[in-house]
Amino acid sequence: MTIKQQRDAELLPFHALITGANGGLGLALCARLAQDHLNLHPKQPIHLHFTTRSPSKAASVTEYLTSAFARHPRKSFLHLHSHTLDTSSPRSCLQLARSLPPINVAILNAGIGGFVGMDWPAAIWACLTDLVRAVTYGEFKLQAIGRVTKAKPHLGEVFATNVFGHYLICQDAPAIHRAVWISSLEAGAAHFDPSDLQGLKTEHAYESSKRLTDVMVLTGEEHGKGRMKEHGQQWVLAHPGIVATGIVDLHWILQWCMLIAFYIARWCGSGWHPIDAWKGAIAPVMLSVMGDGDVKEMKKRGVRKVGSGTDRWGNEGVTETDVQGGWENMGKDVWEQMERLREDVVEGVESGRYE
Ligand SMILES: NC(=O)c1ccc[n+]([C@@H]2O[C@H](COP(=O)([O-])OP(=O)(O)OC[C@H]3O[C@@H](n4cnc5c(N)ncnc54)[C@H](OP(=O)(O)O)[C@@H]3O)[C@@H](O)[C@H]2O)c1
Repeated sequence: MTIKQQRDAELLPFHALITGANGGLGLALCARLAQDHLNLHPKQPIHLHFTTRSPSKAASVTEYLTSAFARHPRKSFLHLHSHTLDTSSPRSCLQLARSLPPINVAILNAGIGGFVGMDWPAAIWACLTDLVRAVTYGEFKLQAIGRVTKAKPHLGEVFATNVFGHYLICQDAPAIHRAVWISSLEAGAAHFDPSDLQGLKTEHAYESSKRLTDVMVLTGEEHGKGRMKEHGQQWVLAHPGIVATGIVDLHWILQWCMLIAFYIARWCGSGWHPIDAWKGAIAPVMLSVMGDGDVKEMKKRGVRKVGSGTDRWGNEGVTETDVQGGWENMGKDVWEQMERLREDVVEGVESGRYE
């Protein structure tokens, strides 16, 4: 791109989509992306399309962002657009996708854990024997097996919410230039079996959904299909490290215990405990504001996934993150299964066969 072309492009508005924006990481992503964009591109307006599950949640996001940017010198360059989205509902995803303008970057953040409790003896033992590991991978969280969405088609609930809904949006929106998928440190190879794409048989539906995310993104250039392939969408992988949000539903006393354990883990040198959502947003936002050339260069250097972290004193940073092997051979099959499911679901929604 010539300097003139770059300057012209900078004058066009930048459209960003952020799903699951009303709390936790999502709200921080909205604020941080807007701030970083306005600092890096002072003359380029940013249109933030954020999604929530209800108008009242959308109103609280608008109120929060409006007041956060009230004194920003370029606040007139920030435009907020709220959308209602339930990622577990294909109809809702298709409605959103078809209403969107061309999107420069979509941060696919909405998600659930599907956690139903804790194996307390295992949790206590894990914290006593290896605290850093315990509060990084949370292997003692209990998850429901085989839980599906209420409406037809009855898809695996965690799969639909975390992965498939976002997949529909990417494949159905008129144009998405870059999709930043939110993964996790917990996306271990052992948790995903391609013959159980929707994670219906596993005790680890959450980790399975995140590993599936990693597999799709990392094999997309070779095996990608649909608009992802035809439009040359750039798919990239980020995770927030460990952030204290409401994704694990705990009594407030236990929330405090968890927070203290996170700080101890950080002081013990964990490196993966930003704790605060603003700091957790650094890696996904970095991938959102990077130029295309920098993304290509990063991929060429073999960087597959980046995550937010801090040092012992809470100074934030972005760290390359290991992805366990084995995904290379799964890509073709996984992409074929995702596309088959998408075709069936889109046809079913359009014909009224599905709600
Ligand atoms: N927290 C961490 O340490 C951590 C670590 C690794 C990865 N992540 C990932 O980061 C993302 C955000 O998680 P978080 O920690 O910020 O959790 P959170 O505080 O529970 O926020 C989740 C967001 O997703 C929305 N959401 C849930 N189900 C939805 C659905 N069916 N349709 C549309 N939106 C839905 C929630 O909306 P409602 O308020 O309406 O429920 C909320 O805005 C997730 O993808 C998660 O897997 C988090």
